[in-house]
Amino acid sequence: MNKMRKQVASYGDEGFSHFLRKAFARHMGHEASDWEKPVIGICNTQSEVNRCHTHFDRIVDSIKRGVLMSGGIPLEFPTISLGESFTSPTTMLYRNLAAMDTEEMVRAQPLDGVVLIGGCDKMTPAQLMGAASADIPAIMITGGPMENGEYEGRTLGACSDCRHFWQEYRSGTINEEELEEINQSLAPTAGHCMVMGSASTMAVASEALGMMLPGGAAIPATDNRKLAEAQAVGKQIVSLVEQDLTPSKIMTEKAIENAVKMLMAVGGSTNAVVHLIAIAGRLGIPLSLETFDEIGKETPFIANLRPAGEYQMQEFYRAGGAKAVMKELADYFHVNEITVTGATHSENLKEVNISPVYRHIIRPVDDPLHAGEGLAVLKGNLAPDGAVIKPKAASEELLKHEGRAVVFESTEDMQAKINDPDLDVTAEDVLVLKNTGPVGAPGMPEAGMLPLPKKLLEQGVRDMVRISDCRMSGTAFGTVVLHVAPEAAIGGPLALVQNGDGISLDVNERKLELLISEEELNDRKKSWKEPTQTKAARGYTKLYQEHVLQADKGCDFDFLVDQATNKKS
Ligand code: FES
Repeated sequence: MNKMRKQVASYGDEGFSHFLRKAFARHMGHEASDWEKPVIGICNTQSEVNRCHTHFDRIVDSIKRGVLMSGGIPLEFPTISLGESFTSPTTMLYRNLAAMDTEEMVRAQPLDGVVLIGGCDKMTPAQLMGAASADIPAIMITGGPMENGEYEGRTLGACSDCRHFWQEYRSGTINEEELEEINQSLAPTAGHCMVMGSASTMAVASEALGMMLPGGAAIPATDNRKLAEAQAVGKQIVSLVEQDLTPSKIMTEKAIENAVKMLMAVGGSTNAVVHLIAIAGRLGIPLSLETFDEIGKETPFIANLRPAGEYQMQEFYRAGGAKAVMKELADYFHVNEITVTGATHSENLKEVNISPVYRHIIRPVDDPLHAGEGLAVLKGNLAPDGAVIKPKAASEELLKHEGRAVVFESTEDMQAKINDPDLDVTAEDVLVLKNTGPVGAPGMPEAGMLPLPKKLLEQGVRDMVRISDCRMSGTAFGTVVLHVAPEAAIGGPLALVQNGDGISLDVNERKLELLISEEELNDRKKSWKEPTQTKAARGYTKLYQEHVLQADKGCDFDFLVDQATNKKS
């Protein structure tokens, strides 16, 4: 069908609608016959308020060139753009809004295929969720990671070092001048955060899902090969349209498992747990926390990347990036899954070789960085529906720990008390933060790496067990238990913890327990009152709080999840 006639605006007269569109398309220099060709949308999330996406212009130009070379018509359009440190209260509140924007614009416009360009943490999952639901041929490309920063001969990475040096400043080991100098080099070039944080994790997960051209995830934003990738994407999307290869044919159950395997192999961000469950949910594929735990146990952790390892995306790219990881993991991967190249992973990876020069960055599966456990899922009376921890970013000696709870009712409460010299806290205690889950905060902010009490920092303490119902940046580290479900704001057991309660964490046994009797827990439950101060009275936040699912279900809206998934889970 000529796309001039596809998805026309509804004026109640199709002929008139087409007539009108033809007149308006002439303004773009298009004739109706041009639209016999594949019409390719380029979903551009460039924004000056999202610093990780400011450089997209040239990438988009290259995509367009590729589309034209292959005989398609490129039409660029904008959607919501979410920059992590420029969005209040948290980008996670708006991930679903961005996913809805993507889905609806892709579906509403007369497109045959779409190229999604994202990068910053929430954009890649939001775009994949939207593409999964709209289900027309789509390819994901990210803007690429930043180059490394440097301070006094030491490599800097956003934002693991933002956190590290801020903690050192608070503990008094560096001064304000040094902090300012470091600040200038933390985010030195265009691109997204360059450690294996959420942005890099979702980029490599996209490659494992089959939704990105092989090798694309790690190409630095400043490398000219990013433009070559963009041009190749433009060419390939036209071919995908001809094959009618849609996201639901690519993001199969096995492809989703591949993404989980990738997450474990690179020691990726805990945020990917929530995002992958949400993407799978759009496709009617139930993905449980148990699956993450099982895959985590059996997948070798082979990429030596910060925050769990030593290197950053720049070095990872030179070592071969995600395709080298997939090649190395071939025996663990579902290599026969189809990808956006129109071929399987197995076919895509035929020519991939990993140079011995880079074996310290991507290790062989028989000599991994760690045997497994990129992530662990905990359960117990404190988290009946689960919680997650990144054991390799934690302190080994704290992975089995019993301590006294020091409770903060909210982030505001924590901020008011954490620097108080009179705060009753020791290094053996367990810091507990409540009401920061999907409904409670709202939006489940990345506040899970609770700052350590100043008086303990000054004594040299650098890690403690911390538990909350919120998330943690993929660039963060520490013995941090996250995503406790159900969350405190809807009456989960976390809401019932009191100062001085005993808490037991045993990562090996996958246990998280509040050491009080069931009777006491039930009594507290009866007197629990729902917090009202965080309930929005109107607007998007109200919609969000009324419909968001818990962390173990991916935090999507209940009405956006594929109905089949709702029934199965
Ligand atoms: Fe955009 Fe880190 S702030 S990826």
